[in-house]
Amino acid sequence: MTEQKTVYLADYQPYTHLVDSVDLTFRLAPSATRVSARLSLRPNPERPGRNDLRLDGEGLTLVSCAVDGKAVTPTVEPDALTLAAKDLPDGPFTLETEVEIAPEANTALEGLYMSKGMYCTQCEAEGFRKITYYPDRPDVMSRFKVRIESDLPILLSNGNPTAQGPGFAEWDDPWPKPAYLFALVAGDLRAHSAKFTTASERPVDLNIWVRPGDEDRCAYAMDSLIRSMRWDEQVYGREYDLDVFNIVAVDDFNMGAMENKGLNIFNSRYVLASPETATDDDYYRIEAIIAHEYFHNWTGNRITCRDWFQLCLKEGLTVFRDHQFSGDMRSAAVRRIEDVVTLRSRQFREDDGPLAHPVRPESFIEINNFYTATVYEKGAEVIGMLKSLVGDGAYKRALDLYFDRHDGDAATIEDWLKVFEDTTDRDLSQFKLWYSQAGTPRLKVDEAWDDGVYTLTFAQANPPTPGQPEKQPKVIPIKVALLNPNGDEVVPTIMLEMTREKQSFRFEGLAAKPVPSILRGFSAPVVLDRKPAPGERAFLLAHDTDPFNKWEAGRALAKEVMSEIALKGTPVRSDWLDALAAVTFDDTLDPAFRALCLRLPGEDDIAQTIHAMGRIPDPAKIHAARREMAGALAIRLGDGLSRLYKDLDDNAPFSPSASQAGRRALKVAALQLLTRRDGGKLAASAFARARSMTEEIGALAALLEVHQGQAELTSFAARWGRDANVMDKWYALQITTAEPGDAAALADRLIQTPGFDWKNPNRFRTVIGALAANHAAFHHRSGAGYRLVADWLLKLDPLNPQTAARVSTAFETWPRYDASRRKRAKKELERMLAAPDLSGDLREMVERMLAAG
Ligand code: BES
Ligand code: ZN
Repeated sequence: MTEQKTVYLADYQPYTHLVDSVDLTFRLAPSATRVSARLSLRPNPERPGRNDLRLDGEGLTLVSCAVDGKAVTPTVEPDALTLAAKDLPDGPFTLETEVEIAPEANTALEGLYMSKGMYCTQCEAEGFRKITYYPDRPDVMSRFKVRIESDLPILLSNGNPTAQGPGFAEWDDPWPKPAYLFALVAGDLRAHSAKFTTASERPVDLNIWVRPGDEDRCAYAMDSLIRSMRWDEQVYGREYDLDVFNIVAVDDFNMGAMENKGLNIFNSRYVLASPETATDDDYYRIEAIIAHEYFHNWTGNRITCRDWFQLCLKEGLTVFRDHQFSGDMRSAAVRRIEDVVTLRSRQFREDDGPLAHPVRPESFIEINNFYTATVYEKGAEVIGMLKSLVGDGAYKRALDLYFDRHDGDAATIEDWLKVFEDTTDRDLSQFKLWYSQAGTPRLKVDEAWDDGVYTLTFAQANPPTPGQPEKQPKVIPIKVALLNPNGDEVVPTIMLEMTREKQSFRFEGLAAKPVPSILRGFSAPVVLDRKPAPGERAFLLAHDTDPFNKWEAGRALAKEVMSEIALKGTPVRSDWLDALAAVTFDDTLDPAFRALCLRLPGEDDIAQTIHAMGRIPDPAKIHAARREMAGALAIRLGDGLSRLYKDLDDNAPFSPSASQAGRRALKVAALQLLTRRDGGKLAASAFARARSMTEEIGALAALLEVHQGQAELTSFAARWGRDANVMDKWYALQITTAEPGDAAALADRLIQTPGFDWKNPNRFRTVIGALAANHAAFHHRSGAGYRLVADWLLKLDPLNPQTAARVSTAFETWPRYDASRRKRAKKELERMLAAPDLSGDLREMVERMLAAG
């Protein structure tokens, strides 16, 4: 086991040396790759005195080491190579090392590894130290030159190509960068290529590299890339800065994608798409992730992070930018709703449990465990609030100043906030609490109506989180409008700026008591605590002019109904059914929006809501409640549902556009409800006639939900058995729709199917993630769900600790449940902790989760 050391933000010190340039030579071989590194070093004037030179390195076999051409004998430890100050020149010097590594044996998929005969790298956050000895920290930026020697036909690295011939290629990256942005790819690859001309007329060659046979599934990714490049020029004034931009798709990848300078590496599932293989959701994700990684070129690469505590500086901002982009490319309202659904189901969940941490953490053990919903999603929300507070014009000026002032820097959150303070003269010290305090604020709302004066009073509560018992009040931008009883806006959207624990806002000169539309556009990541007057939610669902709050009214009502059924066994409320029916059949509304309204809240979400009420959620009852609501809805919508389905079932040629995707989403939602009434006739024919993967998988899901579809499952597997990314949908669907008591056994059977490659992160996440996503199954009272997940985490951990640690968050909600479930979950967590060779990654997660009680 690697030793677990806690790193603290407060301990930051600049590195002892500066690296002016790096020359790397790779002689590739599966079991014995040689890496030669030549570093031009000099002492860092910010670290006076004579300092030892300590380079990070893990799992490297040192072959040779020389300073200024003379062989030296450094001190080598398992995680470092050190040269004593006394053995080093006073001024600039050259260090040459040669090491041997075995990419073929690298199952952790960090550093240089192999995937289906192809070499590739993943260096963020601390993977470069598995390639060669180097100061593996983001504030050490250097110019990299790379030479690759291999017989494989395509040899790629960062920057621009400078020379190539039989058996070798050379690359030069003119932009200084930290080691985590280094990348190398070698393999038998085919390109889907295009050309782009930047706003200032720089020609750029664009290539998407894939395995032979996949070239015809890259068009959408390429189109997304071109639109991202244009958008960043138009909206942020940022141009691309190299002659080539390469993207490579690999099948074995721990994450979604990685922004290596000029050479993005992607999980193949976020590149390859055709109408027959990709759902509309896949298309959306490809567009968003291509944009995200491209946008990092400025927010992350040109301006990087000083240390890993500043991760949200690049990730929060880049997520914010990719959300803006998706909102511009598609329906902004629909995107905002989807983003908030994700925020609540992942980040609010995290913030509410034992893994809660600030957007900028102050300590960590394993940095890979901090690529979280909080750093990403809440990090993006914090930027959205900042933009609301300063206004669009000031946001733009602040960003221009940020790019101008910090280009080439390794920056901090302080630097980021300073550009806003300098452009607006605002004091952001209270706002900064959003970066340092964990936990989701709860906002209680009271209203008073007195003789033409309407008063809204807000009280914020900032709940305790691990290590942070006491909190101070935050700045909360609350966008509010007031509606007349007939639905007109009497007070259009204004932003209230709450800064105190309790604060009132008065509205005068109103003729009648208004209905408030609070937190429009979800203007702050808080939980709104409000008992509205009866009928108000249905009223807002019908009349609110803010699309987010219109949806939110329906969602809040659905949550209320589902919680009541689960807790008290009440019948499905007709006010909810009526209100939803009105929206479903309102042809003036965007089909995508109607589909969103028809999607019932998730079971985990309801468990979270019930827990927040101070009650203990019962997964079986929540599951039954959700099913009952779907059944009642199918009946309430009556014949209109068949008509709606027929209207949407057109013959238009496929396009991945948001408008067509919206129609397909509504059509599939209608089909799934209809299937609850007709026993599967329509869904079976829809499956047979499907012309896109959205329709095919939608029909299959409808069938499985009513325990039909065995023949369709077989034909799907026969058709797609050779396409692993498509088959992931087949595995996931069966497990997420399985009966709670059967799902664990099914997951176990599927993952053990001969030929099922569970060592592949996508496969592993699909099966184990699907079981964890089946709330009633994972939390089944037998404990079978907990046991199976723990078994497989223990199996994966020795091979790929990073993915094991990420999947372990399935357990993060365990303290919510009853004593018997808690006992079973705890037993599994303790069993993992007792495993003899548990990785540091998984150990940290399990320990933090167990600390909850
Ligand atoms: N820089 C990350 C990739 C990464 C994450 C590398 C963790 C190493 C450890 C990349 O920019 C990223 O954020 N990818 C996301 C997708 C994105 C659209 C949010 C991912 O991989 O999930
Ligand atoms: Zn990112």
